[in-house]
Amino acid sequence: MPKEAVGVFSILILMATGILASGGSHHWAYSGEDDPAHWYNFYDLCSGNKQSPIDIVPSTAKPQNFLPIHLGNYDTIGKSLTLINNGHTVLLSLPKNYADYRMPFVRDGGLTNQFVFAQVHFHWGAEGVRGSEHTVNNKHYAAELHFVHFNKKYGSLGNATSHPDGLAVLGVFVETSKEDNPAFDPITSVLDHVVHEGHEWELNETLSLRDLLPESLSKFYRYMGSLTTPGCQEIVVWTVFADPITASESQLAEFRQLLSEDGELLVNNYRPPQPLMGRTVHVRSSSTKMAASLVAFLLPIVAVLAL
Ligand SMILES: *[C@@H]1O[C@H](CO)[C@@H](O)[C@H](O)[C@H]1NC(C)=O
Ligand SMILES: *[C@@H]1O[C@H](CO)[C@@H](O)[C@H](O)[C@H]1NC(C)=O
Ligand SMILES: [Zn+2]
Repeated sequence: MPKEAVGVFSILILMATGILASGGSHHWAYSGEDDPAHWYNFYDLCSGNKQSPIDIVPSTAKPQNFLPIHLGNYDTIGKSLTLINNGHTVLLSLPKNYADYRMPFVRDGGLTNQFVFAQVHFHWGAEGVRGSEHTVNNKHYAAELHFVHFNKKYGSLGNATSHPDGLAVLGVFVETSKEDNPAFDPITSVLDHVVHEGHEWELNETLSLRDLLPESLSKFYRYMGSLTTPGCQEIVVWTVFADPITASESQLAEFRQLLSEDGELLVNNYRPPQPLMGRTVHVRSSSTKMAASLVAFLLPIVAVLAL
């Protein structure tokens, strides 16, 4: 190889490895110079046209006859979960080597495959008037939970992130209530053990993931979007439940004591809604309404047939 060619070649290799190495490592935050408005400077996918979260406008959502969401193993977590402060959020993950047959999963509800649970994490505000990532008619909820699942056919979360149908995330809104929500107690009671980035704590109470979902899962919004943190890969089929769960102000206050990787209070860790860019948001109509409209549709046909 001529000398110049070798030079260009090694520069290309250096660039490629540099890009890969910096791919997951540039500092990002929810405020200051590296806030969401600047993520695309270092993570170019963040300026894509299928980004999340979005503002959901129920009056323009397109009704679709999805099957109900089916959750497997969601209320039978056999071992304690680990709570982790990663400097951007606090997440709950399953113990390593958790038995395959006990892995929580989601399918149906219009999903193309079975998706396996990887972790659930939280987004919250400094006050109850903000904190959720998705909004409804521009209204924020106090917090939002994300149950992250990977497509079973890709075998692992890491492998799934390079495929457009890699992830299915269930989003759950949290609205403030006067009463504590007992489902949060196993988490909120130990958050003071994970105040700092990198700290982990094993829950010593078993916790049912099902209790952190709304009682009714029948109505949800569905659209194609992205991770809401860098690198913002557009690989997520989103399910956002219409019904919220609740948490009291004192339970939310436990989240607001955590510290970010910058050593500041970890609050308002949500990305603002991104442009819809022509995407369709579907809504699963509640089954009773579906049945009613089916009857309304069939009755005249039956009447005609009867003539
Ligand atoms: C992830 O992908 C690699 C390369 O294709 C494969 O060897 C590995 O088995 C996959 N991991 C899982 C858990 O399926
Ligand atoms: C959980 O840990 C606390 C404090 O270490 C202890 O008092 C309590 O008995 C433990 N609960 C269970 C179910 O092990
Ligand atoms: Zn999230």
